[in-house]
Amino acid sequence: MSSVATTEQIRRQFPALARHQNGFPVAYFDGPGGTQVPRRVAEAVSDYLLQHNANTHWAFPTSQETDAALRAARAALADYVGGAPEEIVFGANMTTLTFHLGRALGRQWRRGDAIVVTELDHHANSDTWRRVARECDVEVRVIRMRPQDGRLDEEDVARQLTPGVRLLAVGAASNALGTVNDVARLAAQAHAAGALVFVDGVHYAAHQMPDVRAWDCDYFACSAYKFYGPHVGVLWGRRALLEALDAPRLAPATATAPERLETGTLNHEGIVGAGAAVDFLASLAGADLPRRAQLGRVSQVLHERGEELIGALWHGLAAIAGTKLYGPPPGTARTPTLSFTLAGHTPEAIALALAQRGVFVSHGDFYATTVARIYGREQEGFVRAGCAAYTTPEEVERLLEGVRALAG
Ligand SMILES: Cc1ncc(COP(=O)(O)O)c(C=O)c1O
Repeated sequence: MSSVATTEQIRRQFPALARHQNGFPVAYFDGPGGTQVPRRVAEAVSDYLLQHNANTHWAFPTSQETDAALRAARAALADYVGGAPEEIVFGANMTTLTFHLGRALGRQWRRGDAIVVTELDHHANSDTWRRVARECDVEVRVIRMRPQDGRLDEEDVARQLTPGVRLLAVGAASNALGTVNDVARLAAQAHAAGALVFVDGVHYAAHQMPDVRAWDCDYFACSAYKFYGPHVGVLWGRRALLEALDAPRLAPATATAPERLETGTLNHEGIVGAGAAVDFLASLAGADLPRRAQLGRVSQVLHERGEELIGALWHGLAAIAGTKLYGPPPGTARTPTLSFTLAGHTPEAIALALAQRGVFVSHGDFYATTVARIYGREQEGFVRAGCAAYTTPEEVERLLEGVRALAG
């Protein structure tokens, strides 16, 4: 059987990798904040805008082509998350979709109810729910993160998930530490307590193929700009739940799922690009299989490559005097994203110095504000480096060289 595209074959599809900074080829480690985009995704966006641009549901060709393009994108995203096309809702980004869903769910909550969030999560998946809970006068419980390995405290999970909890909002993976949670297990515990399960898959979907049916969650959100697509948010929900939601909606707008969760005219070109990003990933399979099978193959190989990269990065950083690494070590359930600090240098200064060498890393708390507070990093945050499908071992070595030079 032919094999999944090599890193070099993948790299050729990303024009951004030709960029130089101070004479150095740019190494993009900022993927957890948004990946680079392959040519075919940009071409799909451009082709839509230049050849098919129209509003939906009218009786002329460009409008019909737009309807077809949105249907195709829903089918692609459904294949990616493991759901059905009628369960795919598009929106501006994960945060906006989560607020919207939260307001709809909140209409069913009453005083005395509780919802559960976690310390590990991006605040798009905790502050959104806190805000809705405040509006409905509902208790918010918080599952603790264990500072020693950046994982959720399992005993606390059991303590917080008791009858009366209406929702567990949990991330599939931490965008700050790379921790991957056991979503299937958490969902089973939440369902046993009678709670619905919302999964923030924004960081996870950048690295591994989601599987909403195997996880048995109720809602799942991700953002295409984290997996080689444009800036578009995606919400998956069980069809029956989407149909039943009392979501804020204009009277003339479509009443059936998934459109009933969508507001106004959508970002058609972005949605086309999101579908193209899924097709880009599937195309790396090097085998003529159903799309979800292709995606599974690619996801597995990219995950294995990511494990090697993160191992080299983690151990290389750990060997430099003055560095501190946060979160789960390599070889455990994690993505190829890590956060670190270097004594005597602010994360911003490190990012600036690395950028001079063409190594682009992010710094700050990445909206994982509670994680930063737990580690006493609420002021300056961390340096974050994330490996993507286009990351090479040589780039990892260049990042390490830059940190070594700073450490003296
Ligand atoms: C884990 C995680 N959740 C949620 C978000 C918010 O996503 P969006 O920008 O699509 O609202 C991010 C963005 O960085 C993230 O990394």
